[in-house]
Amino acid sequence: MSKNLGELSGRKGLSGNLFEELGNVASASGTVSIEDVARISGDFLMGKANVYGTVSFYDFLRPENQGKKVYVCNGSACLTAGSQDGLKEKLEKHFDANEIGEMCCLGRCHENAAFSTGGKNYSGAAIEQIESIKKDGSVVADNYRVATRGTAVLTGPFPGIDKFYSGLTGLLKKTPDELLNELKVSGLRGRGGAGFPIAFKLESCKNTAGAQKYIVCNADEGDPGAYSDRYLLEQQPHLVLHGMMIAGYITGANAGVVYIRAEYPEAIAITQKAIDLLYDAGLLGKNIGGTGFDFDFKIIRAQGAYICGEETALLSSIEGQRPEVRVRPPYPTQHGLFNKPTVVNNVETLACIPWIMLNGGAAFAAIGKGKSTGTKLVSLDGFFKTPGIYEVDMGTPLSVVIEELGGGFRTPVKAMHIGGPLGGLVPLSKIPDLSIDFESFGQNGFLLGHASVVCLPADFPIIKYIEHLFHFTAHESCGKCFPCRLGSTRGYELVHKATSSDYKIDRELFTDLLTTMEIGSLCALGGGLPLPIKNSLKYFENELGQYFINQ
Ligand SMILES: Cc1cc2nc3c(=O)[nH]c(=O)nc-3n(C[C@H](O)[C@H](O)[C@H](O)COP(=O)(O)O)c2cc1C
Ligand code: SF4
Repeated sequence: MSKNLGELSGRKGLSGNLFEELGNVASASGTVSIEDVARISGDFLMGKANVYGTVSFYDFLRPENQGKKVYVCNGSACLTAGSQDGLKEKLEKHFDANEIGEMCCLGRCHENAAFSTGGKNYSGAAIEQIESIKKDGSVVADNYRVATRGTAVLTGPFPGIDKFYSGLTGLLKKTPDELLNELKVSGLRGRGGAGFPIAFKLESCKNTAGAQKYIVCNADEGDPGAYSDRYLLEQQPHLVLHGMMIAGYITGANAGVVYIRAEYPEAIAITQKAIDLLYDAGLLGKNIGGTGFDFDFKIIRAQGAYICGEETALLSSIEGQRPEVRVRPPYPTQHGLFNKPTVVNNVETLACIPWIMLNGGAAFAAIGKGKSTGTKLVSLDGFFKTPGIYEVDMGTPLSVVIEELGGGFRTPVKAMHIGGPLGGLVPLSKIPDLSIDFESFGQNGFLLGHASVVCLPADFPIIKYIEHLFHFTAHESCGKCFPCRLGSTRGYELVHKATSSDYKIDRELFTDLLTTMEIGSLCALGGGLPLPIKNSLKYFENELGQYFINQ
């Protein structure tokens, strides 16, 4: 069924894209009405039920979004910072209560108190300027520290378009296999969470026959606490675009899609500007530099759904389908966007490619530790004395990141949630055991993920955080498999009941629930949620024991 829908949607493809059209309608009127659904389904020859199914899934397409003029961030970092109740109170003096909505993580985790209005994001002390923001859409500076400790693969100064792309034509004169080989030698693994080697994906796509192939950049950075992809898109967009072009050349793809979350309006505008500049410079389109290589870009603005970061849900999203996770095989490299061979990679993964092309795969492989080669961006939240984005060589001790780069904690902290909502909850006692690489985190029962760090202050109840994680997963579940769809809601209900009454959770039942989610879920949303909860039970038993029976 979804295969047929992919084909149908593929007739219009990227130009006149169905999902884009739904977003445009919602931008103008606040939602997509039933009349709009009927008209659009007619235009695209899709069933009304299919289009309605899509519309009803996304936060920014649903009728509940209509009339909202300001959105308060409800992500984990703003939650643990405790900044949002006060922020909301202040906003209520300037907006009607029904004009205030919520968005999940604006990527302003470095200073919190984040909100979005008039298509721009604000944080920190910006609320004090709300009158002028409301009047003329003033932009308030978004300052966070960016620093490098080790090799600057991603954080070096940008030398300008001419110099940066000066080697492109030379690269396009080499064979795709030569460039692929550099990536194989580099050992570059996906930075989006799973750590899968990029060269395998590119090779699989390259070896799949097809006149039309796609490179998709996953810029849905939904993990609350992470803003490193935002940094790259806003401050280093050409690293990402150049990387996508090389990936296109290797695989035989002539189209690149950058799927960027709507919560990052500045990233969308800056990336679009960078693409326009490339067209003006003759570095995109047909026969680039006389090499015979064609490449075009398209930005797709997401509409507020965490699960669209999962690569198959993301592809369904671009197709205008309800973003339900797909069963694999077939893999996207065989049947991807519009059923064509497609490579999906994270922003940071793609952004490493230009450095590898310039310096060679062996130079990249020489950085890091073991199978975790190269560098990693780490996002530090507002609990650090110097929050920001730090590029470190893989293998850098976590203690160095916390003390030397982050400057230590501003106020007492008892745990860090590292690697997004599905990452592990790391107690302070484990800091000496960990370094920034896939193996160290995995061996210690945690997950490096995208390397975002959200701190839990000493006075923040762990049970409240668990409740938040279940609630987040229940809201974001795509609903395809019941261990996640039902499990996240049942988990939330159990924990909520225990925090709001003298109800005690049956520990055996709770363990069964976690095990069912872990082994029975189709993707890492339902399957990954148990990790931080099990970490919490292991390291914070003294705090959590009171909420359980059958010890
Ligand atoms: C629930 C869920 C959310 C995800 N969110 C993201 C995301 O925001 N960005 C991302 O790059 N990968 C995300 N992923 C991982 C992608 O499915 C995929 O592995 C990744 O985009 C591949 O790129 P990489 O190999 O470069 O990491 C998510 C996975 C799951 C299960
Ligand atoms: S685990 Fe959750 S998000 Fe993933 S496929 Fe199942 S229902 Fe969808």
